[in-house]
Amino acid sequence: MNLILFGPPGAGKGTQAERLHDAYGLAKLSSGDMLRSPGTLNNLARTYMQRGDLVPDDLIIAIIRGRLNQKDCARGFILDGFPRTAPQAEALDGMLKEIRKSLSYVIELKVDDRQLIERIAGRFTCAKCGAVYHDSFHKLKTEGACDACGGTQFSRREDDKVETVARRLESYHRQTAPLLPYYKGKGVLQTIDGMASIEEVTAKINAIVSSGSNKNAAKNS
Ligand code: AP5
Repeated sequence: MNLILFGPPGAGKGTQAERLHDAYGLAKLSSGDMLRSPGTLNNLARTYMQRGDLVPDDLIIAIIRGRLNQKDCARGFILDGFPRTAPQAEALDGMLKEIRKSLSYVIELKVDDRQLIERIAGRFTCAKCGAVYHDSFHKLKTEGACDACGGTQFSRREDDKVETVARRLESYHRQTAPLLPYYKGKGVLQTIDGMASIEEVTAKINAIVSSGSNKNAAKNS
């Protein structure tokens, strides 16, 4: 099963990608995490990310190409945050052809802009394992300690400042949302209400992926 989790900043892509990874053993390819990981982030990419702009297509396409060729992707993968532009979507088609895979589903998480800003403003991450939390919507079970690894250091993303978030949302609406008709035309798009709780969204995604409701899903499973 090969999936794209599609949606604006703060829609819950990363949260749900982690759950899909845990539940189905799919490789998790989060473009933002890859760009932020030490050793990958060059100064050029950092400048774009700090402004809330998309990094150049060539850079992210090369990163995803390298990752898709790794062994763990053979069992299936989740793309979180890629593709975000028409050239990226075209490049992905080419890469999938090369590795003889196809997309099972593109799952769009639909969330209002106002809610996105609230989600991003309250997001924090465990510095040790990267688990993602929220001040109100996903609190730590034990104050000051990560549920997943017990880590006690947490951080907030540089690009989660209100002014940068507005620019990230603008990029999404201008460059990324226009890809939706492309995936609808391929018959793989599933749109779900991302305004629901984290648990409810997980349940809806599970219902889609376990239904095997399209021919590619059956072929890839
Ligand atoms: P990236 O890291 O991918 O950020 P993003 O797409 O802007 O998405 P986010 O990580 O902000 O949100 P998310 O949807 O994963 O939400 P999350 O699960 O964390 O990209 C960062 C930058 O890298 C880009 O701006 C760009 O510069 C560059 N980049 C990356 N990919 C690129 C590409 N392909 N091309 C070019 N440039 C690229 O949830 C958010 C918060 O809400 C959390 O606190 C969570 O606990 C909470 N939450 C989640 N779900 C729910 C829910 N259902 N209800 C209530 N709260 C919820």
